[in-house]
Amino acid sequence: MHKILVTGGAGFIGSNLIEYLLNNTSDHIYNLDKLTYAADLDFAHNYHHDRLTFIKGDICDTAFIQHLFQEHQFDKVYHLAAESHVDNSIENPQVFIETNVNGTFNLLHAAYHLWMEQPRVFKPDFKTMQPRFLHISTDEVYGSLEDDGFFTEKTPYAPSSPYSASKASSDHLVMSYVHTYGLPAVITNCSNNYGPRQHDEKLIPVVIRKALSGEPIPIYGDGRNVRDWLYVTDHCQALHTVLENASIGENYNVGGKNEIRNIDIANHICEILDTVMPRKDGQPYAAQITYVKDRPGHDYRYAIDPSKIEKDLQWQPAETFKSGIKKTVEWYLKKYNS
Ligand SMILES: NC(=O)c1ccc[n+]([C@@H]2O[C@H](COP(=O)([O-])OP(=O)(O)OC[C@H]3O[C@@H](n4cnc5c(N)ncnc54)[C@H](O)[C@@H]3O)[C@@H](O)[C@H]2O)c1
Repeated sequence: MHKILVTGGAGFIGSNLIEYLLNNTSDHIYNLDKLTYAADLDFAHNYHHDRLTFIKGDICDTAFIQHLFQEHQFDKVYHLAAESHVDNSIENPQVFIETNVNGTFNLLHAAYHLWMEQPRVFKPDFKTMQPRFLHISTDEVYGSLEDDGFFTEKTPYAPSSPYSASKASSDHLVMSYVHTYGLPAVITNCSNNYGPRQHDEKLIPVVIRKALSGEPIPIYGDGRNVRDWLYVTDHCQALHTVLENASIGENYNVGGKNEIRNIDIANHICEILDTVMPRKDGQPYAAQITYVKDRPGHDYRYAIDPSKIEKDLQWQPAETFKSGIKKTVEWYLKKYNS
């Protein structure tokens, strides 16, 4: 049985990943999470399983992280803990640097100390275990696209927000540990995720929440910004596939080939709500859509070319946007109506 550390396991993707790993492996999962505002406290406190241990802690605490690796002898790490909301990184960038850069450094260094005797030489116990450190990153490290083209693994990094710059920095640190020390690490850069347990501040939950409360549904600028959407369990499956199969030092772009403008997402959700929970006054929910002042430096378009993970690791998303968004809206309807 592997001892798997998932950092940020009480967050949106981390909690879905833990559920996925418990259902699809026989490993023991350690969920390390600081429980910031972004964590799902219900998941952290009430999701129980005999192969799941919850540990409250901060990845920025160097001594604690070193001790934790020595105590539990993790042989696989999925690193998701991060500050993840671009708007917050514009308001308060410092915590993004602390968590996303310094926190990642602490984890890399603790893994290096646990697994390796010296650069490129594994400790005997870990040599046979084939340990892996998977750093979960974002397509936002590549910056913004115009109407044409896709991000590939060879696209040069050009982050434009404090969030994406902090993630790009952490990606570079990971690769430096691969090249300098031979740390068995890999990176995934994924597009926008959607699905259950995403924090209320993100676009899709905001649209559903505001629609149901009768408030204006805020859409930045002219709503034409394009994102490439992937259902969260498809991302989890990709992460598991990469951790199990990727060669050391590889990076994989993960995306759903679902490019959609923000305004079209909002309209689509409003149409679903019109059918499943029509407004009492008979008006369409889309009447609540309101354009608001654009985010400073708002990237225009992200689009992933996922051919490397499709060809090398035979990964394919299972969910279409139509089926995934329907499930997502149903999940939030239960949450907001309970
Ligand atoms: N959500 C997306 O669309 C998306 C897309 C691509 C990549 N990613 C990356 O995936 C990862 C997870 O994203 P998410 O959307 O689930 O984020 P999230 O904000 O929902 O969850 C982050 C979790 O990390 C925890 N955390 C924050 N700081 C911590 C610290 N110092 N120590 C320990 N735990 C801490 C939080 O409590 C929270 O539970 C992030 O690294 C993000 O950059 C997200």
